[in-house]
Amino acid sequence: MSIVFSSHSIGNVLIKNRFVHSATYEAMASPTGEVTEKLVKRYQRLAKNEVGLIIPGYMFVHPHGKAFPLQTGIHDDSMIPGLKKLVDAVHHEGGKIFFQIAHAGRQTVKALAGRQPMGPSDNGRDPLNFVKAKPMTEGEILEAIKIFGEAARRAVTAGVDGIQLHAAHGYLLNQFLSPFFNLRKDQWGGSDENRFRFLKEVILEVRKVMPEGMPLIIKLNTNDHTPKKGITPEIAANYAKWLYEAGIHGIEVSAGSAIYSFLNMCRGEVPVNELVSGLPWWKKPLGRMMMNSLKGKFDLKEGYNLEAAKLVKQVIDGVPLITVGGFRRLAHMQQVVDNGFTDFVSMSRPFIREPKLVVNFKEGKKDVVACESCNRCLAAVTLNMPVRCYTHGLRSRDETDD
Ligand SMILES: Cc1cc2nc3c(=O)[nH]c(=O)nc-3n(C[C@H](O)[C@H](O)[C@H](O)COP(=O)(O)O)c2cc1C
Ligand code: SF4
Repeated sequence: MSIVFSSHSIGNVLIKNRFVHSATYEAMASPTGEVTEKLVKRYQRLAKNEVGLIIPGYMFVHPHGKAFPLQTGIHDDSMIPGLKKLVDAVHHEGGKIFFQIAHAGRQTVKALAGRQPMGPSDNGRDPLNFVKAKPMTEGEILEAIKIFGEAARRAVTAGVDGIQLHAAHGYLLNQFLSPFFNLRKDQWGGSDENRFRFLKEVILEVRKVMPEGMPLIIKLNTNDHTPKKGITPEIAANYAKWLYEAGIHGIEVSAGSAIYSFLNMCRGEVPVNELVSGLPWWKKPLGRMMMNSLKGKFDLKEGYNLEAAKLVKQVIDGVPLITVGGFRRLAHMQQVVDNGFTDFVSMSRPFIREPKLVVNFKEGKKDVVACESCNRCLAAVTLNMPVRCYTHGLRSRDETDD
């Protein structure tokens, strides 16, 4: 049997194969953050179809850190029964589930966060929402660390198998790690060591509520692709070494930021019409021009985070490495796991298109994913439409039904 169908552990959790469902915002929670039936069904189906490890879309740890209107919440104890239903449904199908917990920091808008979005520094208005962040006070930083701990406690109470901290794609943990977003000169910025401090303190806080051996993993940006220098693969490798020394159980490597470089996060086509349709009328002409200028510059490269993953792999001595981004052919996935470049292959868009992908690979029914990386699903969730394949979803029910 191919290595991608062999089991491998993350912390004390045995994952039945090397396929990970990378966190994917579903736009399926209630407006107040509760898990819905639709959301439970999505992950039950993926578990039933043998995805080894399921990481649902990012969950906001506090309303001030909410990134999208229909995001799942883990900010209040009243969320626990719904979260437990989600965990139980995955377990019922023999799957494993980690929650990705996140704070948006400056990467949100006042209407959602209920206040001026905050971040490590005020480094100007972003080019999409024109948000100017309120630099966090020492008290707000300490409070945010506690908030992550509280969210982790809820995840544990809900029965989750592990937790992933979202330190990628431009959200708060990424902002502290990044020399682009973090211009502080106090103990939380000014050097890589200081920029790492917030994540380190969050890890210590979250650990307090996690049972011994329960996996705590990080989704780490290996390249921010910001207009000025942010995290580079070399800085990321340094952080990975410190994460290893901090006893982390796994690292998933990614890149890009939702506002400054979403096409490095999700390489592929630019769905210009869909993205522009979500802009207010006065932003549409400029938005269309900008989107058109991006066309053809971010074509999908197979396994596009693998080069950075190799740097990370060198410094984490056997700690499981999960790589996401552009895995599309089974033979390639087998090759990269076989060669020891990564321990797990993680995918998002291919599972939106084909929930039965792993089973179909295993049964030899296919060897290439059907997803065309057109990014229409990504545009859809930003418009609060539930995640599904918007290119083929209506035509190919055989591939989307279980
Ligand atoms: C609709 C959509 C929603 C996403 N939501 C999240 C998320 O909640 N958390 C996260 O870390 N990444 C998120 N991502 C990024 C994916 O996890 C993944 O890193 C990226 O799509 C590249 O992998 P792929 O080529 O297999 O799609 C999202 C991607 C898509 C398309
Ligand atoms: S809309 Fe469908 S084909 Fe396009 S990227 Fe999403 S899953 Fe893939």
